[in-house]
Amino acid sequence: MNVKEFCEKYYVERNGTNCLKWDALDTRFGDPELISMWVADMEFKTPECVTDALKERIDHGIFGYSYVPDTYYQAVIDWEYNHHGYKIEKDWIRTSPGVVSALYWAVNMFTKENDSVIILTPVYYPFHNCVKDSNRNLITCDLNYDNGIYTINYDKFEENIIENNVKLFILCSPHNPAGRVWKEEELERLLEICEHHNVLVISDEIHQDLVFGEHKHIPTASIANGKYEDMVITAFASSKTFNLATCLTSTIVIKNEKLRNTWDEFTKIYNQVEVNIFGLTAVEAVLKGGEEWYQALKEVILHNYNTVVDEMKEFPDTYIAPLEGTYLLFMDLRKYIPLNQIKEFTQDKCRLAVDYGEWFGENWKGFIRLNLGTHPDIVLKAITNIKDNLRNIKNK
Ligand SMILES: Cc1ncc(COP(=O)(O)O)c(C=O)c1O
Repeated sequence: MNVKEFCEKYYVERNGTNCLKWDALDTRFGDPELISMWVADMEFKTPECVTDALKERIDHGIFGYSYVPDTYYQAVIDWEYNHHGYKIEKDWIRTSPGVVSALYWAVNMFTKENDSVIILTPVYYPFHNCVKDSNRNLITCDLNYDNGIYTINYDKFEENIIENNVKLFILCSPHNPAGRVWKEEELERLLEICEHHNVLVISDEIHQDLVFGEHKHIPTASIANGKYEDMVITAFASSKTFNLATCLTSTIVIKNEKLRNTWDEFTKIYNQVEVNIFGLTAVEAVLKGGEEWYQALKEVILHNYNTVVDEMKEFPDTYIAPLEGTYLLFMDLRKYIPLNQIKEFTQDKCRLAVDYGEWFGENWKGFIRLNLGTHPDIVLKAITNIKDNLRNIKNK
């Protein structure tokens, strides 16, 4: 299936469906007519295997109490092994309604009030919120930024851990919004530091499947032949890859028995919620039957990325980062637009709803995050608007 065929078959208009990305533009951005390029959600229908499995479930007509079936566990285990070479066992797997809820739980079960938790900024805003909302001390460590290239400042990371007696590190791998797919040696250096200072690691790998070119997602728990897997809790889901966010079914992997017991004791009190049969059905179906759709989706994202790179050549100082992972692109507008005019430029002039840099960390104002998980015509329109308005400024 090529890009055109995929889009013809799966692209859908989402307006008028209570869709956060489009129908909430007015409440979120004060303007219902913007082109929506924010929030990591797509305009593509899930593969037929999902709708078929859900229809079958619905036709049965019974939605009573259920449990997580062995076939679901096996589908998760097989996907992880086949796509990422990560061998997990059924006993290590837990489910949660979302990766974000798992992050909130983890902060609350593995740290105490006022303990310090570290994150590598810029990073997905719930990483900040889950720490601050839980009355923990948020420690941010900026990535090094060299004109579109993001790397880790290990010295600063370690210094921050020591100075603040950090207990927990929430890692984003692949990284949203920097788009980095961390290399094994990068993960190993981070984990070495964490081990040395007794810092537990929660690795959010929700973007694990969306990696491009020669880049390969390395599950954090698997690095160095599993040397660190007892100090890592991994969270992932099919919700980014296959656009299933409201199916509310994510996977948490905990190898270490003691950590697993802590998880179970905590969720026994705070998550007395039955499993969601629609989520389990959808995720199992897509893990077993979604491969062709998934490969075609990656071509669409790559195509959209190439469009942005080609179009933005005229403005090289927007420093489009190489596409390593995720379908999110962090664009630097600082050389062209004064910081206090970024919103006016993006919304009023370019007519775009985006995620703003400062949502991801206080030092990242002047960046915007664009969502490439959409129809190529939408991406082209958004980029043309950015280009036209940058030209207008240049020619003034
Ligand atoms: C890094 C990261 N984690 C978690 C989520 C959301 O996870 P969930 O919808 O399962 O809570 C996102 C969504 O964009 C994300 O980028």
